[in-house]
Amino acid sequence: MRRIVHHELGEPAQVLRVEGSPSASLGPDQVRVRVSYAPIHPGDLLGIMGSPAFGTPPTIGSVGRVPGFEGAGVVSEVGARIDPGLGLKQGLRVAFFPAPGSWRDEVVVPASSVVPLPDSIPDEIGAQMLINTVTALEVIRTAHDSLPPDARTGVVVLLTGAGSAVGRLLGKVLTDRGVKVIRLVRSEAGAAKLSGILRGRWRRRASAGRRRGVVGGTDRDRH
Ligand SMILES: NC(=O)c1ccc[n+]([C@@H]2O[C@H](COP(=O)([O-])OP(=O)(O)OC[C@H]3O[C@@H](n4cnc5c(N)ncnc54)[C@H](OP(=O)(O)O)[C@@H]3O)[C@@H](O)[C@H]2O)c1
Repeated sequence: MRRIVHHELGEPAQVLRVEGSPSASLGPDQVRVRVSYAPIHPGDLLGIMGSPAFGTPPTIGSVGRVPGFEGAGVVSEVGARIDPGLGLKQGLRVAFFPAPGSWRDEVVVPASSVVPLPDSIPDEIGAQMLINTVTALEVIRTAHDSLPPDARTGVVVLLTGAGSAVGRLLGKVLTDRGVKVIRLVRSEAGAAKLSGILRGRWRRRASAGRRRGVVGGTDRDRH
């Protein structure tokens, strides 16, 4: 099995290596998944660098550390104690999270970490479907709970980093829930790109000597 590993913290391009390693043994409550896609999240790169933005720097053991937390693939083996009623079987396409060390050919994860993928969701989308969605929903819930109960209707959300993966999800979920969203990006190129995705309009705003794009939210949102 191949894995992407680092033995020290540093610039990803400098410290990452592809290495071979034996397959992990399968526990009775676990499934083995042949990985087809594992995304590269900004947080993965921060972890490799040991950036303070990652939080406590990750521990690197004697055999190195494999980055990654989620992905998608095909179930290749099912643990002996897994409830057949879950429908987990060889050949099933799944997304998986949390799976620390997902940048490898195969992962071994608890049955509770996998979600079957319908045919309509390709592997490359399923692979990045869980962390960002959980994050976006948690952000919305936290913001909602921070408002006094009598101020939770007619909300307008000012969304920074609106062109990011998480930002696009936030904008989509909020718009679906009837919330008006004003999306902020830092450049005209970013505004044009986001506007193309949303099929919307954007306006330029000057701030502190820099120009920023502003994309308006409408019910025509697609992402
Ligand atoms: N559970 C968690 O805690 C969790 C989970 C997921 C993500 N995150 C965090 O959420 C953030 C977004 O993640 P993502 O995957 O959505 O990232 P992404 O798709 O890579 O997008 C990053 C965005 O940041 C913008 N940006 C970068 N530097 C900027 C600056 N100096 N000023 C203004 N905008 C700037 C970029 O704008 P341009 O398009 O103009 O370059 C881009 O839109 C990251 O910080 C990530 O670590 C946290």
